[in-house]
Amino acid sequence: MPSFHLKTYGCQMNVYDSARMENLLKPLGYHSTDDMDSADLILFNTCTVREKAKHKLMSEIGKLKELKQKKEVVLAIGGCVAQEEAEKLFRKAPHIDIVFGVDQIDQLPQLISQVREHKTQISLTAFDTDPTFSLSYLIPDRCPTSAYVTIIKGCDKFCSFCIVPMTRGLEKSRSPQEIIGEIQKLVQGGTQEVTLLGQNVNSYDYKKIYFPELLRKVDQIPGLRRIRFTSPHPQDFNDEMISCYVGLPRLCKHLHLPVQSGNNDVLHRMRRWYTVEDYVQKINKLREAVPAVSVSTDIIVGFPGETLLQFENTLHLLETVNYDFVYSFKYSERSGTRAARDFEDDVPEAEKERRLAILQRLQDRISLHKNKMLEGTLEEVLIEKQSLDGKLQGRTDSFKIVHFEGNPSCIGQFKMVRLDKALPHSFLGTALDQQRSSKVYFQQPASKI
Ligand code: 5AD
Ligand code: SF4
Repeated sequence: MPSFHLKTYGCQMNVYDSARMENLLKPLGYHSTDDMDSADLILFNTCTVREKAKHKLMSEIGKLKELKQKKEVVLAIGGCVAQEEAEKLFRKAPHIDIVFGVDQIDQLPQLISQVREHKTQISLTAFDTDPTFSLSYLIPDRCPTSAYVTIIKGCDKFCSFCIVPMTRGLEKSRSPQEIIGEIQKLVQGGTQEVTLLGQNVNSYDYKKIYFPELLRKVDQIPGLRRIRFTSPHPQDFNDEMISCYVGLPRLCKHLHLPVQSGNNDVLHRMRRWYTVEDYVQKINKLREAVPAVSVSTDIIVGFPGETLLQFENTLHLLETVNYDFVYSFKYSERSGTRAARDFEDDVPEAEKERRLAILQRLQDRISLHKNKMLEGTLEEVLIEKQSLDGKLQGRTDSFKIVHFEGNPSCIGQFKMVRLDKALPHSFLGTALDQQRSSKVYFQQPASKI
């Protein structure tokens, strides 16, 4: 039985695409292996959103030259680096067999057999040109407790720092029928929670069906317990989206809304067409409607020309919004983007690192403070896996990670858990036994009345 070793870099979209690749390979008799040296097929699903990720990948590919000389193995590179570099990858690493783009995943089995039969190199990275797209998603034998489902790919926003419109192409929405069909099958296979995925989910537009309408349709799927989405864009986050949080019981009370900077000049140079004030107003409105909602964001520090004062405006924004958590990055110049063309990458690396550390320290304090306010409360946790220390790990509706003792047979189930100790990025908790948990669970709405 042939084996494959699949390594995934980058975002959730790549995780989803890798799951698709696995689902295509398994019916061909391939089994997955963690041991790269023994695999018959090595697949890298790559990311180029920041330069460092690309460097790491190129060094990993370089190391495989020796293995290729020793044994027969097919080396295939997919994802964003493949899309960006195309045939140039063969020049940099002539031992690669297949370079395939984000629109060629379905063709992977044919590409592999062509390489095996004809001993050639293949590069296929053209974007398809249809304004909508269709995905063949084969449902795996064991469906994940929490599954990703792509609803839109590509991006039309062209933020000046971002390579995504170049590597993923322009926006294309997938039909609601296909999305709902995939979720129904996942739910039948045991999935409890789905995260609707896209570079820009709230730009979803399938023949004038927009994102809120799609959310309402997904909320109707019998058996589905939780809905999440990532990532929306602040510009397209409107009142109708807030109504969804109020009206759709399965939509989780968490919003990840990337802001990128807390200064209006920087936002303008980033080509993010909203102001800090618009953004804060939207969050306030959501919180008025749904007080328990948790809010998170993405921040870039050291964007070209970012002054100390502008950086401090970002720190101020973190305190104003009082985020639950923040993903933060040092600006990384990507060639082909407008920022690379128009601005000098003039914040020194050491200064970017200093700003990142200050921002992360501040956010850790804010997160810990917010989490501490939840100590002692009961939360319904969806158990996703066993963590390295043997404890069970799950998430609350508001996306907080909780670790607690329990039987691994509970993975995939909901449990009421008391949040005992808050940490900056998670909680330690205690699961209530089944009897008590259902009692507390049903008592809660009653006590509200
Ligand atoms: N440099 C640093 N961070 C970036 N991101 C996207 N492009 C860059 C870049 N060139 C960050 C943004 C985005 C997240 C997915 O990655 O914050 O929201
Ligand atoms: Fe990149 Fe901006 Fe599109 Fe997000 S919205 S994927 S940051 S171009």
